[in-house]
Amino acid sequence: MRLEGRRVLVIGGGGGGIGRAVTRAFGAEGAAVAVADRDPERADEAADELRAAGATAVALAVDVRDGGELAAAIAAAVRDLGGLDTLVTVVGGQLELVPAVKLHEMLDEDWDLVYELNLRYVARAVRLVLPVFLEQGHGSVVSVGSVTGIMAAPHQAAYGAAKAGLLSLARTVAAEYSADGIRMNVVVAGAIATPVNPAPDGWVDPIPVGRYGRSDEVADAAVYLASDAASYVTGQRLVIDGGVSARGPFG
Ligand SMILES: NC(=O)c1ccc[n+]([C@@H]2O[C@H](COP(=O)([O-])OP(=O)(O)OC[C@H]3O[C@@H](n4cnc5c(N)ncnc54)[C@H](O)[C@@H]3O)[C@@H](O)[C@H]2O)c1
Repeated sequence: MRLEGRRVLVIGGGGGGIGRAVTRAFGAEGAAVAVADRDPERADEAADELRAAGATAVALAVDVRDGGELAAAIAAAVRDLGGLDTLVTVVGGQLELVPAVKLHEMLDEDWDLVYELNLRYVARAVRLVLPVFLEQGHGSVVSVGSVTGIMAAPHQAAYGAAKAGLLSLARTVAAEYSADGIRMNVVVAGAIATPVNPAPDGWVDPIPVGRYGRSDEVADAAVYLASDAASYVTGQRLVIDGGVSARGPFG
């Protein structure tokens, strides 16, 4: 129960992949969880599952692209949970959003769609939650990033640039708000088997561990970064990628 008594808002927490694993893990560690998702049924399902397991949970419908909805969701989480200790941003992705093309072939609107979902609105959520944390005198943010933010993946230019931006955002929060008791870190996920990115047969060569990762392995890292065990950790990335980014092209 590393998060007993903590109040957590998970944005994008209804999804069947990393989002759901994060809400489950935070609930299992004793946190009260507000699950926010664009899909209200998914948010409800995730909150129901947590309550059935004995945790405190509320569901919030929010599309992060709407600044008013986002501000209202943060206010609702603070009201319903009686405060907010941690914001987890899971929302993001690209595979289901745009065609896989090279940089010069990418349409403006596709760049904007991916870049904004993965960085602009996450940054807005962070900007909106900071006044809450400042008033309380503490708080932390954990964002789900990607190895494409630390190494290039062909056909993922906007996604990689946005996920790299999350790392910069975390460093800024560390530089500007550490004295206020506020931390931000990024879980950098490698290839994780999820509904939108199922593990293909026989493509694990570049992964030293020899398999795709599981969503709960990403969620465990998020729990650690939100917990007191990480009280001196801020502005950092924690890479959960089965060794992909550690391996060079040798041997
Ligand atoms: N699956 C992977 O291999 C992998 C690898 C690295 C990083 N990631 C990152 O992990 C995160 C989760 O990915 P996932 O595939 O596990 O998804 P997921 O199953 O956690 O689902 C994401 C949820 O976000 C919600 N969402 C989407 N747009 C939204 C919006 N505008 N407003 C509010 N909610 C919205 C969806 O309804 C969905 O429920 C993403 O940030 C992704 O970039 C995934």
